[in-house]
Amino acid sequence: MRGKHVLIGVTGGIAAYKVGTLIRELVKSGAEVKVMMTEAGARFVSPLTFSALSKNPVLTDLWSSNQSSDSDISTQHIDLANWADVLVIAPASANTIAKLACGISDNLLTIVSLATSRPVILAPTMDAEMYLHEVTQKNLATLSERGYFIVPPAEGELASGLKGPGRLPEIKILTDTIENILTHADRDLIKKRILVTAGPTYEAIDPVRFIGNRSSGKMGFAIARAAAQRGAEVTLIAGPVALETPRNVKRIDVESAQEMLSAVLRYSKKTDAVIMAAAVADFTPAHPAKQKIKKQPGVHSLDLPLKATPDILAALGCSKRNTILAGFALETTDGLSGAKEKLRKKNIDLIVLNSFNKQNRVFGSHENTVTIIDKRGDVERLPKLPKFEVANKILDKIRDLL
Ligand SMILES: Cc1cc2nc3c(=O)[nH]c(=O)nc-3n(C[C@H](O)[C@H](O)[C@H](O)COP(=O)(O)O)c2cc1C
Repeated sequence: MRGKHVLIGVTGGIAAYKVGTLIRELVKSGAEVKVMMTEAGARFVSPLTFSALSKNPVLTDLWSSNQSSDSDISTQHIDLANWADVLVIAPASANTIAKLACGISDNLLTIVSLATSRPVILAPTMDAEMYLHEVTQKNLATLSERGYFIVPPAEGELASGLKGPGRLPEIKILTDTIENILTHADRDLIKKRILVTAGPTYEAIDPVRFIGNRSSGKMGFAIARAAAQRGAEVTLIAGPVALETPRNVKRIDVESAQEMLSAVLRYSKKTDAVIMAAAVADFTPAHPAKQKIKKQPGVHSLDLPLKATPDILAALGCSKRNTILAGFALETTDGLSGAKEKLRKKNIDLIVLNSFNKQNRVFGSHENTVTIIDKRGDVERLPKLPKFEVANKILDKIRDLL
């Protein structure tokens, strides 16, 4: 961690006292550490303690300019946001998590979190009931989708005397996470052009009805977000989804498989890698009706002839030269051999096999369990991870192949 800038945000939680050990470990490993605290955080531990351990002034007040020697009041929050290689909010209170999830920026810590483009790690710690409450879980899921790294709390006895999840994880887990994320924050995909597809396609039956599928687009959006964070120039071709466009990503919206093919062919020229995470329909209505199909009295069935859609992956596989091509596979039977077959037949460099079962529903979830298979025959089975982390694992493989 030598020379790395770690910015720690301390909020008002009982675990604030453990942050001293985190600061010491980071300083020992060569990192430069600065600490900011919320008003509530500073009630639990004196800023003086963290100042002595980090050897830097501790920043608590948005409105005060004389806390940090090298910034004035007008730029302090932006300077801090740019100074950090990584921001670690530990402990992260339920209150601050809620603020971050909806973009409230009413103190130095929340403003810097909003202003930074660097990775943000959150270590939620609180009473188990607060942690497991639907609203906290929803806020954490929102932040995870936006690319925040959430370190799940440890289980055990809590300050309230109750048992459950809510404790600050071991400091080693936090330092390992910081180190791991800083490796990816090295912008190792800078100048690489990456095209990602995401979401379902809608195939028109008539002007108001379509055949679709359950893809939420979350996996493809996570890849686009992670690649942009790692410095790549990212174009995202998205089917119909209700997701926010990740920062620094160029988004092209399409609807049908045919539109997706046209966009992919148009934007895949001169790309270094194409990652096809979209769930493209295999069949489309052969003769979509021009007007809404009406229900007729006495008519009890409707024949809907379907025709095969263009195979976008195979088309790219046939024509590719120096581009790395990654596809996704989801099989309800015999996943691994099906995926290997797809890899070989379609001339793909990497295939990500989604495990589809009761434990891993894939669609709509912000976590996923996948196996990554590459053309050299390497098979890597990953545990259940947030989609953003799966995205980074896929990008690690692509970086190695580039
Ligand atoms: C003794 C005490 C312990 C608390 N511990 C926690 C905690 O562990 N986690 C948490 O989310 N909130 C905890 N709170 C509540 C927060 O301090 C409170 O929501 C505060 O507004 C958080 O402000 P901040 O997010 O700006 O730091 C505690 C409050 C008290 C009085």
